[in-house]
Amino acid sequence: MIELTGAGKSYGSRCVLRGLNLAVNEGEFVSVVGSSASGKTTLLMIACGLLPPDAGSVSISGQPVTDFAPGAAIVFQNYSLLPWLPAIENIRLAVEGAFPLWTAAQHRDQAEKYLHMVGLGTAGAKRPSELSGGMRQRVAIARAFAVEPSLLFLDEPFGALDALTRATLQQELARMCSEAARPVTTLMITNSVDEAILLSDRVFALSRGPGASLSDPVAVDIPRPRAANMIMREEAAVRIRARLFNPAPVEVAAHVHASA
Ligand SMILES: Nc1ncnc2c1ncn2[C@@H]1O[C@H](COP(=O)(O)OP(=O)(O)OP(=O)(O)O)[C@@H](O)[C@H]1O
Ligand SMILES: [Mg+2]
Repeated sequence: MIELTGAGKSYGSRCVLRGLNLAVNEGEFVSVVGSSASGKTTLLMIACGLLPPDAGSVSISGQPVTDFAPGAAIVFQNYSLLPWLPAIENIRLAVEGAFPLWTAAQHRDQAEKYLHMVGLGTAGAKRPSELSGGMRQRVAIARAFAVEPSLLFLDEPFGALDALTRATLQQELARMCSEAARPVTTLMITNSVDEAILLSDRVFALSRGPGASLSDPVAVDIPRPRAANMIMREEAAVRIRARLFNPAPVEVAAHVHASA
């Protein structure tokens, strides 16, 4: 559904991304894990059509991408709510844009339904400045799902949150994905391997820049629902972590094991 082929990007003479090959199948949840300033946001902007690559190509449903993909929603790294509008209005405005033929009452009902789904049913009148960071990111997630997207792009959606809030919102995101009106094809950027394992079907690692490139994807063959504490202990998760970040030691370990 989303396909990057040999995609690269430079800012001036600085090469940020090089030769990226990535495919996300319909209904799949794919994550890219990378360290700080490695080019993660640049990758996501290219994948969703907000930034043209200067090498290679990007396509969505087989069509070359030239603009922000129709039917897509994005949750930015930093809260991107309109600060002068109450939470409910932030969502309602997006719903109005996505469903122009609906009545005003339908727009309002849809916005309220999704605000309720993220546990903020009573906070709709509050402006973003009156909400905590976690609450603001909940509103951003509600807004993304309220447009019933077929494609969802997430740029470190929980990166600015404390560990407990992050864990809660990870579970809420997993639930929203599984309960969505239609399958949501999701590309998430994260700096946390465990977050990627918790939520994804497949995970790519982005190497450190400059000129960052992607690893081969690693499949997360752990049944859902997944719990964060289970991921910590799960043998499959240990293997996945090792494959994403320490390919050489794992090969050595396997070899030693086989010959023992
Ligand atoms: N518009 C721009 N013009 C010039 N350089 C840029 C621009 N956007 C990003 N960069 C540089 O490209 C590199 C990658 O930036 P990017 O924001 O994609 O990384 P990131 O992995 O998302 O970082 P973070 O971990 O801080 O979110 C950084 O060195 C950054 O300074
Ligand atoms: Mg970023």
